[in-house]
Amino acid sequence: MIQLIRGFKDILPAEVALWQHIERTAVALFAAFGFDEIRVPIMEKTELFARGIGEDTDIVEKEMYTLEDRGGERLTLRPEATASIVRAYIQHKLYADDPLRKLYTIGPMFRRERPQKGRYRQFYQIDVEAFGMAGPYIDAQMIHMLHLFFQRLGVSRSLAHLNSLGCPVCRPRFREALSGLLAQVEEKLCADCRRRQARNPLRVLDCKVPTCREAVADAPAIVDYLCDDCRQHFNSVTESLARLGVPFELNKRLVRGLDYYTRTTFEIQTDLLGAQSAVAGGGRYDGLVETLGGPATPAIGFAVGFDRLVEILGQRLKVEAPKPALFIAALGEKARREAFYWCAALAAAGIYVEMEHGDKSLKAQMKRADRLGAARVLIVGEAELASGKANLRDMATKAQSEIALDGVAEKLEQTLKP
Ligand code: HAM
Repeated sequence: MIQLIRGFKDILPAEVALWQHIERTAVALFAAFGFDEIRVPIMEKTELFARGIGEDTDIVEKEMYTLEDRGGERLTLRPEATASIVRAYIQHKLYADDPLRKLYTIGPMFRRERPQKGRYRQFYQIDVEAFGMAGPYIDAQMIHMLHLFFQRLGVSRSLAHLNSLGCPVCRPRFREALSGLLAQVEEKLCADCRRRQARNPLRVLDCKVPTCREAVADAPAIVDYLCDDCRQHFNSVTESLARLGVPFELNKRLVRGLDYYTRTTFEIQTDLLGAQSAVAGGGRYDGLVETLGGPATPAIGFAVGFDRLVEILGQRLKVEAPKPALFIAALGEKARREAFYWCAALAAAGIYVEMEHGDKSLKAQMKRADRLGAARVLIVGEAELASGKANLRDMATKAQSEIALDGVAEKLEQTLKP
């Protein structure tokens, strides 16, 4: 038997109701904040991600699904959506009338990580991006919106972790100070960090290996190196969040795994997912639009790990699958034929009806109606067809009423209309 690919998964019908509930909650909330949906392809030229996310990141170095197509072009399954949305923003000149654009997309991403609980090779993100706003309010708004989203879904035990990564003016000074410290503790670092140290020293701060954590315990904090503009920006963000009542915690170790970030960065973390504590992450990326060939445009965004959110909520929130308004228990071929046309008419009118397609006893059919949670059952056999009348049973009260079969679909439509 052919199994699915390791790290990929099926979302089975029983789980889909929860996915849809989350999606509806997101779409309604984003609309209230003025975000429009955009859909971008799941494959792009490899170069887009290499340049966008950064050559020295784990994602680009070792996690991308890259292939050469038959024309010799190098293509990659998207590991995230930001680079693609930025490409679309530039390619379609979405800035032409007004650089201010608020966009979101929901879909699968691909990273060849080691699979474990909360970490997959195909996973879904709810990704939100805002272009053209340099001031701190949009930062606060994004984090506020994320907070409301989690609140509406009833996610408990999660908190926004916040940091600023500075800008091209102040980050080099920090990098230098950090590199100085890393050179002193090099022996204590893991092999990955020793390699990272020269090319991407900030990532060392994010390493989960205990000896590395210990080695950088006294590392300088980037917030202590911010230039005046970055500091002011960050202070405004935290002030706004406090006023909006969004709980947060400053986390000077938060560096994020993608290279495009500037200034405000954040993650929503939870203790409900073991090692995979981040259920959403994002930040400002003021240089990316220009790096990818567009006009200089400030931007900020975040992505929610949809699978992780489902895992957190699935532990408590049960979203009920729809139940049929009616089950037609048909006995005999003639009754089944009639029932088939009544079902078709009712479904076309938007009413969910089920019937039995096989030659089953009344008892078996009633059992199935019960299992499906049907609100009512119509019982039709040879005798009912002959008399032109049948019984409609209310499954909750067990009350029965007689209904004439002539024009029964229209009558049922009136009775069952939600
Ligand atoms: P990211 O932190 O790489 O950011 O991913 C965002 C979220 O996606 C994570 O917090 C996590 O919940 C989920 N996630 C990441 N990898 C996996 C995986 N292998 N399995 C399951 N879930 C995963 C970004 O992708 C940025 N593009 C976010 C952003 C948007 N920044 C600005 N705009």
